[in-house]
Amino acid sequence: MSETVTLTIDGAEIQAKPGQMILVAAEEAGIYIPRLCHYKGLKPHGSCRLCTVTVNGKPMASCTQPVAPGMVVETKTEALNQFRRQILEMLFAEGNHYCMFCEKSGNCELQAQGYRYGMTAPRYPFQYPMRDIDASHPDIFLDHNRCILCARCVRTSKDLDGKNVFQFVNRGKHKRVAVDSRARLAGTNANVTDQALGACPVGALMKKRVGYAVPVGQRLYDHKPIGSEIEAKASR
Ligand code: FES
Repeated sequence: MSETVTLTIDGAEIQAKPGQMILVAAEEAGIYIPRLCHYKGLKPHGSCRLCTVTVNGKPMASCTQPVAPGMVVETKTEALNQFRRQILEMLFAEGNHYCMFCEKSGNCELQAQGYRYGMTAPRYPFQYPMRDIDASHPDIFLDHNRCILCARCVRTSKDLDGKNVFQFVNRGKHKRVAVDSRARLAGTNANVTDQALGACPVGALMKKRVGYAVPVGQRLYDHKPIGSEIEAKASR
């Protein structure tokens, strides 16, 4: 078996490892493909579809699609950008994402993707769901209003923390993250040092008592768009 796979991404010929997912191969070549459910160290999940690219003209999720010789991948067409904006607008309309009052603002991947894709006001009607906030744990809170169901906490808790604190329950619009205790988060073995907390891309799973330790305006995505650290690799 050949040790590298040659494919084209956005007009550039790149070498990838056999079996590597398009998203990861692109990243290694300094091409950023947006993502929300993808998280380093976890198996690809393929649920948010923000990473959709075209492969030989067909749309595919780049986090779950392995590279193949001769593939022609496009990641930045206007149609893809519109599709991504649409996904983001639906996510914003579906939950309660009040960025200006959220402690995650500036560090939030959903907000940062909204900025990156030029989202202004969602074209869909806001749903204003009334969801529970579980503040029972001494050090962590879980705000279902901000959850985007990416499963990063579910998978990180299971695969990286070895705990299984979170799972999904219900289906369709009633689907939500639940914890492995009827006694809410306080009754679980969740700990503030768990990697699952850092895996949450939004403000759904947060540490208590660290609010505004870093002032708004000085946070991760306040100065540079999400993905710019990957794109910087290409210009080095
Ligand atoms: Fe690929 Fe979510 S990042 S589907």
